[in-house]
Amino acid sequence: MTYVVTENCINCKHTTCGEVCPADAFREGANFLVIDPEACVDCDLCVAECPVGAIFAEDEVPAEQVVFIALNQQLSKSWPVIAVQKAAPADAGDWDGVANKRDLLIKP
Ligand code: F3S
Repeated sequence: MTYVVTENCINCKHTTCGEVCPADAFREGANFLVIDPEACVDCDLCVAECPVGAIFAEDEVPAEQVVFIALNQQLSKSWPVIAVQKAAPADAGDWDGVANKRDLLIKP
């Protein structure tokens, strides 16, 4: 199993999850983080650290968010490791809970 970053991370990107991960399993994109399922050790420390509730165990991902399981797997192959907290976007609070953010995901 692994943990999965889901839609509400988009444009929030608080990065506290990456700071606490003991396995350096988080990968950083422009406006979203993902978890490398091959690096995740299933400890669950990141879940409580995300202030917007974006991280779920793979088998608890909400039905409308299951596409993010594959996205975490795919994007983690090319995005760099993030293991320290960075400043969140200035408008992060405005994006918490906004519906249908997945079209805004930047996938360079
Ligand atoms: Fe995203 Fe939450 Fe981490 S907003 S960057 S999953 S702390």
